[in-house]
Amino acid sequence: GAPVRADISQLEPGQRITVEWRGRPVWIISRTEEMIERTENSDPGRFSDPDSERPQQPAYITGPLRSSRPEIGVLIGICTHLGCSPLYRPEPDAVDMDDWPGGFFCPCHGSYFDLAGRVFRNVPAPTNLEVPPYRFEGDDIIVGE
Ligand code: FES
Repeated sequence: GAPVRADISQLEPGQRITVEWRGRPVWIISRTEEMIERTENSDPGRFSDPDSERPQQPAYITGPLRSSRPEIGVLIGICTHLGCSPLYRPEPDAVDMDDWPGGFFCPCHGSYFDLAGRVFRNVPAPTNLEVPPYRFEGDDIIVGE
């Protein structure tokens, strides 16, 4: 089908917007420097698949931030357990977890994901949130592929 695109010129630091690509909700998250640090400095042992070895992302997406630009996260907004919509909880004290680095909480059965969509250990969701294929066109346009 035709490519889908999102204009992020109005996206504020720390903000998350949701767009729809091919019938699926896609989150675009503007991560602040502090959010990036919290994500990169998280203990990998807290996650089920910290290095994304179970493919839930295109091959060109690597590293703990799981994005092509550190400050922009692009994730499919569907819980990998049974498909609920996780809530955006970016602040360090937003959920009842020690050293919460910010991320997403799925209220359906209690799964937690960080700001890169990496799933925490000991939750129902089996894998990280999916990163869709995408590329940038200039600074402000993201094209889903
Ligand atoms: Fe998200 Fe079950 S659907 S935890």
